[in-house]
Amino acid sequence: MTNPEDTDIEDTDRIYSSPQETVQPFEFNHSVAAVFDDMINRSVPGYGLNIDLISLLASRYAQTGSHLYDLGCSSGRATLALAEASPDTCRVIGVDNSVAMIDVCSTAIEAHPHEDRIELRCEDLLETPVHDASMIVLNYTLQFLALSVRGPLIQRLYSALKPSGVLFIAEKIADTVPHQQTALDDLHLDFKRRTGYSELEIAQKRAALERVLIPESESEHLDRLRDAGFETVATLSKAINFCGFIGIKAGNPR
Ligand SMILES: C[S@@+](CC[C@H](N)C(=O)[O-])C[C@H]1O[C@@H](n2cnc3c(N)ncnc32)[C@H](O)[C@@H]1O
Repeated sequence: MTNPEDTDIEDTDRIYSSPQETVQPFEFNHSVAAVFDDMINRSVPGYGLNIDLISLLASRYAQTGSHLYDLGCSSGRATLALAEASPDTCRVIGVDNSVAMIDVCSTAIEAHPHEDRIELRCEDLLETPVHDASMIVLNYTLQFLALSVRGPLIQRLYSALKPSGVLFIAEKIADTVPHQQTALDDLHLDFKRRTGYSELEIAQKRAALERVLIPESESEHLDRLRDAGFETVATLSKAINFCGFIGIKAGNPR
C-alpha cells in the first residue's frame, strides 16, 4: 500500500480534494495523466501484484519474434513489464486513446533499454490491428468499454493470438450477492482511506466514475473467456474487489 507521505507532492493525486459544484464524468485527461501512477497505486488494491504477474506471464508465454500488446497502456507500467520480461526479438505495442496518457507513457519509455522495440499508438483499441500476438494485456481497461463491445473484442483478441498465447485481464469486479458486494465495497473504501484519500475525495471520485467504469462479476469474465474459445481459463489474482484473469489458447508455440 502506498503511503502518501512517500510520494512527491507534485505527483500526488489531489484531483477531487476540493468540493466541485458538479462532478464531471471521469476522463483520462491531462490532470489525471499527471498523477496517474499515484492515483492507481492508492485506488486499486493488488495493482503492483498484477504488474508482477504480467512480467511472470511474459517470461513464460512471450514467443520469440512475436508481438505483445498492452491495450489501454496509460503510463506504461505494464508495457515496460512486458518489454523487460520478453525475448529481445519481441515487439511490444502499447495502445491508448488518450493523448495525455500517451505523452506520459512516451516519457516513461524514453531512454529505456528496450525503447527500440516498444511502439506506442494513440488510437482506439477497438480499431487497433492485432496480429502475431503471443500475449495481450487489458490491465483495468475492459471495464471502461461499453458492455456491448466486450464480447466481440475478446473474440477478436482470441483469434489474433498464436497457439499457446495468453490474454491477461485485470478488472474491478462486482459481486452478485448484495451483502458480499457491501463487504467488499466497505473494504475497498477502507483501503482508500488508508492510502490517504479523504471522504470528500472518495465520494467525488465515485460520482465521477459512475456510468464510466462498469464492473462485471468474476463469473461473467470467466464465461466470456471460455465462450471465446480459450482452453485454460483462471482467476490469477484477487485483492478485495479487483481480479486478474488469464485465458490461454490451446496448441503449441509456432
Ligand atoms: C485504468 S487505465 C489502465 C491502466 C494501465 N493498463 C496500467 O497497467 O497502468 C485505462 C486506460 O484505458 C484507456 N482507454 C479507455 N478506453 C480506451 C479505448 N477505447 N482505446 C484505447 N484506450 C482506451 C484510457 O485512456 C486509460 O489510459
